[in-house]
Amino acid sequence: MKVLGIETSCDETGIAIYDTEKGLIADQLYSQIELHAQFGGVFPEVASRDHIKKIVPLIQNACQQAGINLSDLDGIAYTTGPGLIGALLVGSSVGCSLAWALDLPSVEVHHMEGHLLAPLLDDEKPKFPFVCLLVSGGHSMLVDVQSIGNYQILGDTLDDAAGEAFDKTAKLLGLGYPGGKILAELAEKGDKKRFKFPRPMMNRPGLDFSFSGLKTAVRLTWMEEIEHPQFNKEKDEEKLKQDIAASFQEAIVDTLVKKCQRALKQTGYKTLVIAGGVSANIELRSRLKQIESKLKVSVSFPPLKYCTDNGAMIALAGALRLQRKQEHNNKIRAFPRWSLETLQKA
Ligand code: KG4
Ligand code: ZN
Repeated sequence: MKVLGIETSCDETGIAIYDTEKGLIADQLYSQIELHAQFGGVFPEVASRDHIKKIVPLIQNACQQAGINLSDLDGIAYTTGPGLIGALLVGSSVGCSLAWALDLPSVEVHHMEGHLLAPLLDDEKPKFPFVCLLVSGGHSMLVDVQSIGNYQILGDTLDDAAGEAFDKTAKLLGLGYPGGKILAELAEKGDKKRFKFPRPMMNRPGLDFSFSGLKTAVRLTWMEEIEHPQFNKEKDEEKLKQDIAASFQEAIVDTLVKKCQRALKQTGYKTLVIAGGVSANIELRSRLKQIESKLKVSVSFPPLKYCTDNGAMIALAGALRLQRKQEHNNKIRAFPRWSLETLQKA
């Protein structure tokens, strides 16, 4: 079965074709980063308009890459939420119309389920059940994953998501957009012990997160340092940014690692999966790998290029559902907010 996946929930147009026998046979991605950089963040209307421009050429490229025609497809999967409504509607309209025109089954995919299942794109696939740490620009969750579609949220963020905290801190330091990745690169050069930022909710029981206090602590430190009479912008600023970035990243990573360990203990599961944009963070990946031997568990990440938004994870999630005859034909819909726990079990 060959399934075309369409992802347009935010600022990436992702188109891929997943073959249930051969794996991924086409993968096309267009990132709108340059378009939004001038605004310092995603401009929703600009995002929708650009998806409209790119979606059809990318579908054509994907077919060419796979060496197939549209008529060789067996199904269409498209992200219908959560995300930006205008952007979602582009993928939903094109996906649904294509399915009508080709008389194919179509399936609506939950963006976070796409992230959560992305590690299955790897040759070494994690085994169910597992705990998933889902950390992206809009979500920070720990999920009990019993099987496809059978998800129970164990912990959620009470305010900012982890990626959002990375992005906002990067903005404060004037690092540009998209901030998370730039901040993480800067952190590699910094001293993570220079500032002791709070580890929010770490000493309280439970699996929820909160990152807004950390963000405030970083802001206060930054202001205090740059307003210090002996601060020399030319001489000290670069080092200060590196050390704040490293100390901030350490605080976030410490919190995420601790909560993952707690979730593994609570569920008794032996597999931990990390997914979503923040799972691309090298420090987080290496710290979580260290708990593998300590706790005798296995820790999986998606291949690096499938951590952030892409069409491959949507094609895969859609294929797994279409294989189980879960179709949503003839519906052009978009859900800006949509809980993972309401999904149909596969
Ligand atoms: O999953 P994703 O591409 O989009 C959403 O579904 O939100 O995640 C984007 C988020 C952004 O907040 C970005 O700053 C963060 O992932 N991110 C990172 C890194 N790469 C992307 N955060 C920390 N370290 C990274 N290397
Ligand atoms: Zn995402």
